[in-house]
Amino acid sequence: MTSNETIKLYEKYVISNYTRLPIVFVRGEGSRLWNAEGRCYLDLFPGWGVDGLGHCHPRVVEAIRAQAGKLLHVANNYYMEPQGELARLIAQRSFGGKSFFCNSGAEANEGALKLARLATPPGKHKFVTFTNSFHGRTLAAISATAQPKYHRGFEPIFPGFSYAPLNDLAAVEKLVDDETCGIMVEPIQGEGGVNIASDDFLRGLRALCDRRGMILIFDEVQTGCGRTGKWFGYQQSGVTPDIMTLAKALGGGVAIGALVAKPEVAAKLVPGTHASTFGGNPLACAAAIATFQAIEEEGLLDHVTQIGEYIQGRLTALRSKFDFIRDVRGKGVMIGMELAHPGAKLVERCLAAGLLINCTHDTVIRMLPAMNITRGEVDEALGILEKGMGEE
Ligand SMILES: Cc1ncc(COP(=O)(O)O)c(C=O)c1O
Repeated sequence: MTSNETIKLYEKYVISNYTRLPIVFVRGEGSRLWNAEGRCYLDLFPGWGVDGLGHCHPRVVEAIRAQAGKLLHVANNYYMEPQGELARLIAQRSFGGKSFFCNSGAEANEGALKLARLATPPGKHKFVTFTNSFHGRTLAAISATAQPKYHRGFEPIFPGFSYAPLNDLAAVEKLVDDETCGIMVEPIQGEGGVNIASDDFLRGLRALCDRRGMILIFDEVQTGCGRTGKWFGYQQSGVTPDIMTLAKALGGGVAIGALVAKPEVAAKLVPGTHASTFGGNPLACAAAIATFQAIEEEGLLDHVTQIGEYIQGRLTALRSKFDFIRDVRGKGVMIGMELAHPGAKLVERCLAAGLLINCTHDTVIRMLPAMNITRGEVDEALGILEKGMGEE
């Protein structure tokens, strides 16, 4: 099919709830994508953070092929080897947490909110979350998401959520009362503009939760699975949550989410309280296991730290040339460059020149490059970006 033929199918048969760019991708390899007409693009925002190993990592592809020939799906009232193995890999690289598997970030957060209520005494039901957070699109997840634009049209949202500015512990303390059962925070806000929660702030949240008998949830849907240069974002601060949620890069391109809870908290999720038909199926778990193995065998955590510093260094150096760069921030391969004006035009210009990046929160150019992106690919991408910025 030509790109136009595919786009026509969408116009006729696919609900238009996304603003789509008129490109039809048919093939991907590493940090490169090809459209239906054979044009090659360099991708610094692969799958909104899902393709953490780039597109179609051979190890992940092979694991999927092998698993597909053995067992695709059995119900969760039986046992499956890949699910047990993946849970072990996560536990041994995190805080010894036990996993519940689902299919997306929003579902993982839904599960985490439900578990927090189960794991605290009756009467505790409220949550504190943070301005500019993003936790997904289900009703509970948008209620946790402190951005009015995601609530519009869906009011009333769930009661019991209140919002504090990020890094303002005093504001959180004011919102907490005896009915508060948990606090949910992204260690680095992604969609909200790549805003880093300070170590002191996270330590303060931990102490507050301990003091008030509340559950601390880290939404690691974007920061998890190596993105920041550690296995999980919480390891950057040394502050351990009671529950963390994962999705995006976990499956190396395949849909899978997880909530990971300290064993004593996890124990409250007893039969009948929560479930997911597809959650933890052998195919998705095999892809996730291969993702973990590739990260380890290819030494990608170190590479992420180094290449992330290199990218941030190059972007920071551009500040002397372009005074409209307000800030460069992030960790590992989660990078934001805040401009003094909207970034949409720059994203469009880069796209026309063959580079995929993202703009979030109107003015923040966001990049979530693959963990295995090479120095050469980064240089090529930043060359395109710099040229685009020269035309601002
Ligand atoms: C931090 C965070 N939480 C939750 C979600 C929702 O994940 P999903 O779209 O898989 O439901 C996202 C998606 O961008 C996210 O960045």
